[in-house]
Amino acid sequence: MTESEATAGGGSPPAVAAVKLAKSFGGVRALNGASFAAAPGEVHALVGENGAGKSTLIKILGGRLRPDAGSMRLKGEAVELHGPGEAHRRGAWTVFQELTLLPWMTVAENLLLGDEPRGALGLIVRRRMSRDADAALARLGIRHIDPDALVEDIPLAARQIVEIVRVVIREPAILLLDEPTSSLGEHEVAWLFDLIRELRAQQTCIVFTSHRWNEIASIADRITIFRNGAEVGTYRAIEEREAITLMTGQRLDTLFPPVPPLAAEVPMLEAQGLAAPGISAIGFTLRRGEILGVGGLTGHGHRELFLTLFGALRAERGTILVGGEALRLRGPRDAIRAGLGIALVPEDRKTEGLLLPMTIRDNLTLAILERISRLGVIEAGAEAERTRRLADALQIKTPSLMQPAGSLSGGNQQKVLIGRWLLAESRILLLYDVTRGVDIATKHEIYELMVRLIGEGRAILFYSSDAEELAHLCHRVLVMREGRIAAELAAPNLSAEAIVAAAVRDSLAA
Ligand SMILES: Nc1ncnc2c1ncn2[C@@H]1O[C@H](COP(=O)(O)OP(=O)(O)O)[C@@H](O)[C@H]1O
Ligand SMILES: [Mg+2]
Repeated sequence: MTESEATAGGGSPPAVAAVKLAKSFGGVRALNGASFAAAPGEVHALVGENGAGKSTLIKILGGRLRPDAGSMRLKGEAVELHGPGEAHRRGAWTVFQELTLLPWMTVAENLLLGDEPRGALGLIVRRRMSRDADAALARLGIRHIDPDALVEDIPLAARQIVEIVRVVIREPAILLLDEPTSSLGEHEVAWLFDLIRELRAQQTCIVFTSHRWNEIASIADRITIFRNGAEVGTYRAIEEREAITLMTGQRLDTLFPPVPPLAAEVPMLEAQGLAAPGISAIGFTLRRGEILGVGGLTGHGHRELFLTLFGALRAERGTILVGGEALRLRGPRDAIRAGLGIALVPEDRKTEGLLLPMTIRDNLTLAILERISRLGVIEAGAEAERTRRLADALQIKTPSLMQPAGSLSGGNQQKVLIGRWLLAESRILLLYDVTRGVDIATKHEIYELMVRLIGEGRAILFYSSDAEELAHLCHRVLVMREGRIAAELAAPNLSAEAIVAAAVRDSLAA
C-alpha cells in the first residue's frame, strides 16, 4: 500500500517534508523530484541502492546542500536553509554518512563543540567539560567511551556513537541519521535502537537510512523507497523481496545467478570431530565446485568455526583435512600455504581484515608479499599487472589502486578481501558474511563472483546472516546451534524458512 506523498499519516503536519527536490552534481542527477514526509514520533526509513540519492536528500534537509529545485518544510513551515546552523535552529540535526568528528580533539571537546561550558570570564572550563561530557554519555547508557580520549585513538564504532551522542544531546525535534549503523556491531545497534525508541516516545521525528533489511523492518514505522533520485513509494509494511524489486526495478530471481550443480565429488576441505572454544563435534566435507552454506543465529559458533579452520583459533580436538590430507595448523600461515583464504567480515572489515590507510593494491597483495619480495624487477612488474587485471575483473570501483582501502564503499572493500585470496591462488575460500550491509547491485556482483570462482574449481564455505541468500546460492547449508551442526539442508528441503526453523527449533521448544 502506498500513501500520498505529502501527508505524514495521522493528522498533524509532518515534522519534515521534501517536495520534488532536485539536485545535480555536474552531469550527475542525484535527486530528480524526490518527495517524502515524516511525522513527529515517527521512525521513517529511507531505502534504496547505492547512488539512489539518500545522502543527498539528507544533506539538503540538514542544510548542508542547497537543492536546485523543489521545496522543503520543517515542522510544517516552508524553509530555505543556507547552512546547518539554520537547520539546527529549527530543531533538525543530522548525523552524516561521513564521520565529521575532529580526530585530534578529545571526545568531550567534540561532544560539546560550540556549546562549551564557560566560566565568568567566558573562558572554557576544561574540568567541567569532561564532567559534562561524561554525564551526557552516562545519561545515554554509554560507559565504555572515555571523554578525555582523543577521537583518533578510539575505535570506529565508538566514533560513530560519539557522532550520534553529539547530535542527540542537542535534543533535536527532527533527527536525521545517514547509515548510522554501518560501522556498529550488534550491541551498539541495539543501544541505538533503544535510544531511537525512547526519542520516538518523546515525539522526536527520526529519519534514517540503512542497507540492513532486518534493522529497517525492526524499527521503522514507515519506509520510503528511492530509485534513481526519486521515491517509488512510502509503505507501512513491505516484504524484503518486494522492496528489493522496487529498489532495483529488477525481479529478485535475477538477483541470484544460477548456481551450477556439482560436477564430481572431490573433497577439498573436511572437518572431523572438530572442537575449539565455542564449537564442538563439527564434521563436514566441502567439495570442489561447491558453495557450502553455514547458517544459524549469530553467536552460535560460526565465527569460531571460521577462525579455527583458518588457524586463527587453536583447535582443541579433531582433524582438518585439505585435499584428503590432515593439516597441521599452527597459525593462519599454515592455512594460507594449504590453499585457504578467508574473508572475515563485517566485524573485522574495518579492523583486522583490511588495513584501511594502506592502498588498495597493498591490501590486495598482502597475502603474497613474501612471494613478491622474492621476485626480480620483471616478475614484480608482471605481478603488478596481474593485480590490476584482478581489480578490473572484480569491478572494484575506484579511480586508482593507489587510493587508501578506506576510501572504498563497504561492498568494494569486500571485493578487495576476496581478491586478496584470488591473488594468493587460494583454492578454498572461507567467506564470512561478505554481503552484510552491502547494497543490492554490489551483492549481485559478489554472487556472480562466487559462482565464477566455483566454476574455476574452487570451493567456498559461506556463512551468511541472510537465510534467503544461503537458500539461493548454496548447494547445501549447515545450520549451527550452540556451537554444533544442528541440521544439514539440501534441495528439495533447502529454503530460507527451513534454515530459520532449524536455527531456532530448540530455543522455541525450551
Ligand atoms: N558531491 C558530489 N559530487 C558528485 N557527485 C555526487 C556528489 N554527491 C553525490 N553524488 C552522486 O549523486 C548520486 C547520489 O548519491 P548519494 O546521494 O550519495 O546516494 P546514496 O546515499 O543513496 O547512496 C550518486 O550517483 C553520486 O555519485
Ligand atoms: Mg549514502
